[in-house]
Amino acid sequence: MIELTKIVKRYQEHEVLRGVSLTVDDGEVCVLLGPSGGGKSTLLRTINGLETFDSGKIRVGDVTLPATPGPERDKSLAIIRQRVGMVFQQFNLFPHRTVLQNVTEAPIHVLKQPRDVAVATARRLLERVGMLEKQDARPGSLSGGQQQRVAIARTLAMSPEAILFDEPTSALDPRTTAEVISVMTDLAAAGQRMIVVTHAMSFARTVAHQVHILHAGTIAESGPPLQIFEAPQTDITRSFLSEAAIA
Ligand SMILES: Nc1ncnc2c1ncn2[C@@H]1O[C@H](COP(=O)(O)OP(=O)(O)OP(=O)(O)O)[C@@H](O)[C@H]1O
Ligand SMILES: [Mg+2]
Repeated sequence: MIELTKIVKRYQEHEVLRGVSLTVDDGEVCVLLGPSGGGKSTLLRTINGLETFDSGKIRVGDVTLPATPGPERDKSLAIIRQRVGMVFQQFNLFPHRTVLQNVTEAPIHVLKQPRDVAVATARRLLERVGMLEKQDARPGSLSGGQQQRVAIARTLAMSPEAILFDEPTSALDPRTTAEVISVMTDLAAAGQRMIVVTHAMSFARTVAHQVHILHAGTIAESGPPLQIFEAPQTDITRSFLSEAAIA
């Protein structure tokens, strides 16, 4: 389980997260929606330690992540980063390595897997995301959607308990978006726990178990998609959805 309790994050005087609490259970898909600047990326980055936070508690399974830098935080982070993978809007693949090398890199160097084991796993995962035939290509020769599917395979290669997705399709055109969404939908169906920030409303509607509306650093509303989309309880949700429908 991932459990966030009253997370507060400030940049100087600006309180970007103002006491955010949420839990994500095993096998659960959690979607974060909300207007730009609401704190969605900051929240994801806080969970896997790319940002510190000022107060509150983050728990991933039996590991608690302290808010501020120090040896305790470093120890927890090393464990959390292996348990929680992240997929970014801009893919962040190594440009000078092949697709296969991108996927085997961390299992070989971080998990110390034997090369042949890492390669076999990487090929299976590339097959799963429909990218095996490009295993020897460089990322630069692939479409954005193909690169993102490789990035997802790379994340899966660490066998994460949860994957954080930060707008994985917002740099993509509609066709390649559909390919990536289809891979994410398959992962969800296989019980992969994930937290997804996205503008892909149909994904939120059909795949999410819980949807949270993050607005100005607080959760304005949480609930299953049926509630959020068919019977929203707050004005913030209603106005976010009507603006999203126009966009
Ligand atoms: N490194 C930083 N230094 C100062 N302020 C920051 C920093 N990163 C984010 N912020 C501020 O924190 C707030 C939340 O930003 P964040 O990127 O988390 O929003 P978001 O919900 O992901 O928005 P978007 O939908 O545009 O991606 C914004 O007001 C932003 O300007
Ligand atoms: Mg963002």
